[in-house]
Amino acid sequence: MAVLGTPTGGTTGETDGTSTGLRFPRGFRWGTATAAYQIEGAATEDGRTPSIWDTFSHTPGKVHHGDTGDIAADHYHRMPEDIALMRRLGVTDYRFSVAWPRVQPTGRGPAVQKGLDFYRRLVDELVEAGIRPVATLYHWDLPQELEDAGGWPQRDTARRFAEYATLMADALGDRVATWTTLNEPWCAAFLGYGNGVHAPGRTSAPDSLRAAHHLNLAHGWAVQALRAALPDTAEVSLTLNLHALRPLTPSAADEDAVRRIDAVANRIFLDPVFHGRLPDDLVRDTEAVTDWSFVRDGDLAATSAPIDSLGINYYSPTVVAAGTSESPSPWAGAERHVAFHPAPGPRTAMDWPVDAGGLYELLTRLRDELPHVPLLITENGAAYDDYADPSGQVRDPERIAYLHEHLTAVHRAMEDGADVRGYFLWSLLDNFEWAYGYGKRFGIVHVDFATQRRTPKESAAWYARVIARNGL
Ligand code: NOJ
Repeated sequence: MAVLGTPTGGTTGETDGTSTGLRFPRGFRWGTATAAYQIEGAATEDGRTPSIWDTFSHTPGKVHHGDTGDIAADHYHRMPEDIALMRRLGVTDYRFSVAWPRVQPTGRGPAVQKGLDFYRRLVDELVEAGIRPVATLYHWDLPQELEDAGGWPQRDTARRFAEYATLMADALGDRVATWTTLNEPWCAAFLGYGNGVHAPGRTSAPDSLRAAHHLNLAHGWAVQALRAALPDTAEVSLTLNLHALRPLTPSAADEDAVRRIDAVANRIFLDPVFHGRLPDDLVRDTEAVTDWSFVRDGDLAATSAPIDSLGINYYSPTVVAAGTSESPSPWAGAERHVAFHPAPGPRTAMDWPVDAGGLYELLTRLRDELPHVPLLITENGAAYDDYADPSGQVRDPERIAYLHEHLTAVHRAMEDGADVRGYFLWSLLDNFEWAYGYGKRFGIVHVDFATQRRTPKESAAWYARVIARNGL
């Protein structure tokens, strides 16, 4: 790590006077991230069938303003323009997701050629632009037919996912090396099946735990499928939205609230994936909800198939204390013992606190607990109320400050020994922010959804400079 913290020239030679001189190691991966349902649109084209998010967003009252991903940022038709934007940013990597219902509409059986062709063209253009593709197989758009057959609480969905992984490895494996099986399975399980604020909108604590286990299993089986199809090339990863938890006070009761949420938000994935076990305290805490009999012999060996890196999505920390919180909840019963408190400090347009310390805490925790696992920040960024001013400029100084603070925290964690290999900014484009619809803008490129005009924000120019100097 010699290059870390040893700036190659301090602030000398910098043109904008804002450099802090922090440099990242040579080969650090600088990317942007997106997800299929949030940007592609073309919801019914070329054989694509509905996913749970199509059904959910078309159900009145589920998404703010009645927004849907039908058109989104029209990336399906504007993909070359979007890659040109990235080429100008100078990113080394691009993290995108494959829409399962575009390539395997019913979640079983042969692939749809036109769907595969879109992703083949995408990766070809990326490679041509010198940008490394990072493919996520599941960013929440489960084919509706699989939900109709029971969705993630059903074991067969994990089987289906492994087959789909093989199909994608066969289609893109000659061009894609880095694969992420799942994006934020916590959200898929607990927002999808626990409190129902995400698709498919079900509210059942036992089903949310079953879903979490089957997502872990889907991950493990997909790792095996990718390795079998691409034995020499696949670098396999999983992206978790680990919660950076803090007790409201140092009391034993508040520490116990942290332990409970850590079990159901973090260790429910970390332990099966990295240690081949379920946390004892999780099983104990959820006794009244489930007996976990859906976990079969051999499952935890499958979930812990070795992976090459761990992806972390981080936005803000979570403060908890002893107490109670509302139901239906995404906490599988823990809400009867835990209250959530707003963290202090400034807020983004999501009302999420800006606090880069949580990212440092997570990275150093992982350094200690998983010392041999390379880390990627697969998402980090912020929503603000951006607009194009009369001169056509989009000024977003708060986003730049947010990103600067968080990259500084990443750098500090690396100096302190965290093995972070790359950073993917969420997001390239303004997009469909799930239950919030289009009102929340995370892009470093502004999208006028009426005209689909793209305007790089000031943060895009800032990020391009960060990438060019490999540092802040
Ligand atoms: C996490 C999700 O992976 C992504 O889809 C979402 O838009 C961002 N966080 C912001 O909420």
